[in-house]
Amino acid sequence: MERRYDFIIIGSGIAGLFFAQKVADLTPKARVAVITKKSESDSNTNYAQGGIATVMSPTDSFDAHIADTLTAGAGLCHTKVVETVVRSGPEAVRKLIDIGVKFTKVKGSYDLGREGGHSTNRVIHAADLTGREIERALLTACRRKKNVDIFRDTIGLDLITYEHQGHRRCGGVYTFSQHKREFNSFYAPVTMLATGGLGQAYFNTTNPAIATGDGVAMAFRAGARVANLEFVQFHPTTLYSPGRKPFLISEAVRGEGAILINTAGKKFMRKYPPLKELAPRDIVARAIDSEMKENGDEFVYLDISHRPAAFVKKRFPNIYKECLRRGLDITKEPIPVVPSAHYACGGVLADIYGRTDIEGMYVCGEAACTGMHGANRLASNSLLEAVVMADFAADDAVAFIAENRFPEVPPAEQWLHSSIVRQKEKVYISHDRLSLKRLMSDFLGIVRSEERLRLAQERIRMILRAINNYYLSQPASYNIVELRNLALVSDLIVRCASRRKESRGLHFIIDYPETDDLHYRRDTVIAPPGFRRFIPNRKGRARNYGCCR
Ligand code: FAD
Ligand code: SIN
Repeated sequence: MERRYDFIIIGSGIAGLFFAQKVADLTPKARVAVITKKSESDSNTNYAQGGIATVMSPTDSFDAHIADTLTAGAGLCHTKVVETVVRSGPEAVRKLIDIGVKFTKVKGSYDLGREGGHSTNRVIHAADLTGREIERALLTACRRKKNVDIFRDTIGLDLITYEHQGHRRCGGVYTFSQHKREFNSFYAPVTMLATGGLGQAYFNTTNPAIATGDGVAMAFRAGARVANLEFVQFHPTTLYSPGRKPFLISEAVRGEGAILINTAGKKFMRKYPPLKELAPRDIVARAIDSEMKENGDEFVYLDISHRPAAFVKKRFPNIYKECLRRGLDITKEPIPVVPSAHYACGGVLADIYGRTDIEGMYVCGEAACTGMHGANRLASNSLLEAVVMADFAADDAVAFIAENRFPEVPPAEQWLHSSIVRQKEKVYISHDRLSLKRLMSDFLGIVRSEERLRLAQERIRMILRAINNYYLSQPASYNIVELRNLALVSDLIVRCASRRKESRGLHFIIDYPETDDLHYRRDTVIAPPGFRRFIPNRKGRARNYGCCR
């Protein structure tokens, strides 16, 4: 079936929903479709705990937030982008509050938490369930708009592109609904990719099942460049709970004084002055990794039991309850923790307006790479970047539609499919998915080596080739769609990592342990085959895809 809209948004996390409600407000006559592959709230956003970093305290300053972001980013942040996002933070948070997000207040003022790499308290939060509160408020706002349709259980397969005056334009997206076993073509002049992260490429991850890098894969296949995918952030403290659903222990717990100790009871972060437990994430995650390897342990401990029990229960109600449900009283005993894949600092190359190499295709939030996070994201800067970008992108996308004409996009080649899934293929798919995740965790984890990267590349290529061979001949399923995307993003991660012959931020490689500013203080950009740089139309608005960062 063909569906025609003005704006299509793929993804219903903070980036997608903020963009959707804003374009719906700005253009009440426009029709807006939000496409999301599972339930509406199934997103990384929904799991965010710590909060949003922004300058709210009179003792804080934009300069301090900018400086902390640049330090964490290890020389790769784009200063202009950082300045713009940080300075736009308070207004973006105000917009969230106006939409209905209820952040925690103490004695009438917003409570500000502390997290790693921040020189002061600046993380506005809703207890330890910030993401759930944001998701609730944004979904309520979108559901109230008469011109927004939300399509759940609908996965974006590939972008629809066409040639326009010598460059590539996006005309929408092909989708599949497993539930209804239905294929659709959604057409619109603007398509926003707000598909989130790729944590599911790894065996241990904080990310929910939806985070399979679909946006990065779709954009690359459509002809857009991607960048900095070697910088996969590992969150230092995920609950060690083998065989059970992953659960994050927020960095805000360390912000409230929790101490890391090894299994012999030693406080090992003393070796990393001056910030110790509150050092940027790359440092803390590597310290834990090295402690576990040195002692042959499977975890270390995070201890907050020295703080008053009543405080811990009030400040971290969800973490307290979830740990208790798993048999651990965090007010009385230390929490076993391990690092897990958490956040993609790289993604589809974009400017701060979400514009990409493909006209009409925007990207926002974790799927994008704007230069905000450099080689290592500062804690709680992700929700901030997502909302600021979505805000800017909405203005740009509305102007783009107003200033341009759009031909009717002809229906294109459809997925070859049948509707019966044979058992044999299912086994192949789950086997390949597991192999990929193991490979990525073993060979592209916190500490890398040339040898491991080479081996990973060979094996990922084999899996990718096999999937590309059986992909179109198989019955459609979310599993196979996601596996194809996971294999492509894994290949892109290893390609980025192999190009960076130095250690910087989240990319630590034992063969090149030093940072090499002379040769590598730059983004790792990968262009798809046949990529042509778009030359801006002088008559139109200055559109400088992916480069004006
Ligand atoms: P998401 O919120 O992940 O939304 C992506 C959406 O796209 C989902 O709805 C998904 O179903 C949909 N989707 C994906 N692929 C497709 C497809 N092919 N077709 C259709 N739909 C698709 N950051 C902070 O700044 N502060 C925090 O405190 C914080 N805590 C975190 C805690 C956890 C446990 C995790 C996992 C992350 C945390 N982060 C935090 C990171 C932050 O939550 C994410 O980076 C951010 O929410 C990403 O928002 P997004 O809108 O880009 O993507
Ligand atoms: C956390 O609460 O520790 C997560 C914060 C983040 O990922 O920015």
